[in-house]
Amino acid sequence: MGTFNVELKKVVDDSYDIEIGFGLEDTLIEDLKNGLVGNISKYAIITDSIVKDLYAKPILDKLEEAGYKADLFVFEAGEKQKTRETKAMVEDAMLEKGYRRDCCIIAVGGGVVTDLAGFVAGTFGRGVPFINYATTLLAAADASVGGKTAVDTPLATNLIGLFNQPKKVYLDIATWKTLTNRQIYSGLAETIKHACIASKDLFKFLEDNMEDILSIDKKACEHIANENCKIKYQVVMKDERESGLREILNLGHTVGRAIETVSDYKLLHGEALSIGLVAEVRLATDLGYMTKDEADKVVALLEKAKLPITIPEYIEKEELVKKLYTDKKVKNGRLRFVIQKGIGDVVEFEEGVFATPIEEEVARQIIMSI
Ligand code: GLY
Repeated sequence: MGTFNVELKKVVDDSYDIEIGFGLEDTLIEDLKNGLVGNISKYAIITDSIVKDLYAKPILDKLEEAGYKADLFVFEAGEKQKTRETKAMVEDAMLEKGYRRDCCIIAVGGGVVTDLAGFVAGTFGRGVPFINYATTLLAAADASVGGKTAVDTPLATNLIGLFNQPKKVYLDIATWKTLTNRQIYSGLAETIKHACIASKDLFKFLEDNMEDILSIDKKACEHIANENCKIKYQVVMKDERESGLREILNLGHTVGRAIETVSDYKLLHGEALSIGLVAEVRLATDLGYMTKDEADKVVALLEKAKLPITIPEYIEKEELVKKLYTDKKVKNGRLRFVIQKGIGDVVEFEEGVFATPIEEEVARQIIMSI
């Protein structure tokens, strides 16, 4: 009998670029020709039924023109499709088409597509590289950056997934012009969240420029895309695996994710997040970390972005309280919340600890009041 020590210490460089611009399809093809993912010549484009003709097919055509093999793998649009079943359907279709380990996945779409495709990439053939080509404000603000990939389950959102970093992220602001108003408002919730946790200046910019942003003014949109990335990558670089600091990106999500699930996805992610942010500024005010005036400013900004600020009547509030326990921050069976401090900051409870236990009754009272 013996013991073998399998020494597998790793130094991993998962660095990647985020390119922000208008119409980045040709840049993507040039990057591939210049070896972004080595000498891979097979590309599986994962997209949804809405983005397919708008942006994925043109990228497919350009890949083929450049001499690469490429195929589209399309699933029905919507958060309800971000499931293990859709993942299996895409994987089976890729296998059927002869895709093996020597391919690269290109996710073309919003947060549902980038979350699901990144997860497929993490397990397909035990891992293949992937690239995110984000076509929504929500994906640009949050989902496509940072390497969180996941699918939802009937119990709650994002419970099954991987940390898996893309090789590059393209934030194509030109694509935002085809978003519905509702999708634009929804995408803005993550931007407002970033301002709340990290930037008074961004908060002021949003207050002063909301009309331009809502009409997809180029300069205003470029500014928020840059600011979102800056805030997000500064957090992710310090705490990729969410052992502390990254929890601040969860502001508003404890209640928000629960509402999203309980609404059976009638609410878009950003709409649910908006209500979650309202709940959390109320909590921060009760705990003495925000003034009423600051909390009112956050709520006013959400309203300015045409986001909901109250829990819809069809939501059963006791069910919502129960659903809070599916949050990934729950520890030892206790709810934990990130708490906003003023505007542009969060509370650090002790070194490296950014979430605090909150009694269920306190959470219930807040939920009952909005
Ligand atoms: N969406 C939160 C995070 O990326 O950590």
